[in-house]
Amino acid sequence: MSFRQPLLRRLAVLPIALLVALVTACADEYPQTTFRPVTELGAEIDRVFMISFWWTMLILAVVLAVLGYVLVRFRSRPGVEARKIYGNNLAEILWTAGPAVIVVLILVPTVQAIFFTYREAPEDALVVEAIGHQWWWEFRYPELGIRTANQLHLPVGRAVDIHLSSADVIHNFWLPRLAGKRYNYPVVALPEGAPQPKNHNRLVFTIDEPGEYAGQCAEFCGVSHALMQMRVVAEQEAEFDEWVARMKAPANAIPAEGTIEERGYNTFMRGGCIACHSIAGTTASFGTIGPDLTEIGARWKIGAGAAENTPEHLARWIQDSESMKPGSKMMPFPQIAGEDLEALVVYLQSLK
Ligand code: CUA
Repeated sequence: MSFRQPLLRRLAVLPIALLVALVTACADEYPQTTFRPVTELGAEIDRVFMISFWWTMLILAVVLAVLGYVLVRFRSRPGVEARKIYGNNLAEILWTAGPAVIVVLILVPTVQAIFFTYREAPEDALVVEAIGHQWWWEFRYPELGIRTANQLHLPVGRAVDIHLSSADVIHNFWLPRLAGKRYNYPVVALPEGAPQPKNHNRLVFTIDEPGEYAGQCAEFCGVSHALMQMRVVAEQEAEFDEWVARMKAPANAIPAEGTIEERGYNTFMRGGCIACHSIAGTTASFGTIGPDLTEIGARWKIGAGAAENTPEHLARWIQDSESMKPGSKMMPFPQIAGEDLEALVVYLQSLK
């Protein structure tokens, strides 16, 4: 009997562990939950999940009930032999037909949802090209002539048609509250403005709630895959139009003479940054290897989620991005230092 007590004591921990799990499950916001969709596409995926979930719960309940009944009713007792069933036709038919019917009941809405995710975009949909790079996101708005990176704005109440592609390896575009995951396949590098191929992956949805939505790459794509995050800023059409206007003619792109921002601007123009980065409203418009920096001051993070967007982080990033994001393809710039570095950071943070 001596082994029983520790066992009982260990079992007593179970309810406490369950309670802790339950309480911590309610403790956070879960920005990447799929259970609070804000698009019709997200709602459709959620609907299919719920159908499968409740059928599964029903099966679990029936199996547990039958099991419990059989265990008690037909348990072996002294003098009573356990009962066995062989070749009962009714039982055989029931446990073959039952699962078949349930599979059909799950299959029909699933197939409907699959077709729904591939439906055509309406005529007036906003086209956005989402291009995966190791390890950041490029966003182009071909009809609006603007470009951004990692943080994209989308209008509420208007369909968007996201064209997915990649500049290098396979990535996966995932905004859990907006849509399911979908692959970004590499396409031949196309010059900007060139017509995109028609056979690449797309996502069509309409957001119905303003807000900020978190997303990330969902396919292992190299060492900094986990730091390939993105953010959607969904806003009313009027605010979205204001953002587009700001992106086309950013107010702070060329700073006033004699300011610290101007010193930063000059450092940006002469320090080698323009080989890879662009800022709308300046002559730095040909660098497309790295993220567009037109509104970098307004982004929620730097390095596609690598660090909070603070002056200290930005300065460290410029000097040695690899130390903040393994495998970062941005070369280190230790030669930009001191007051030049400080001014460059002030300038970049003023871009919003
Ligand atoms: Cu891109 Cu993982």
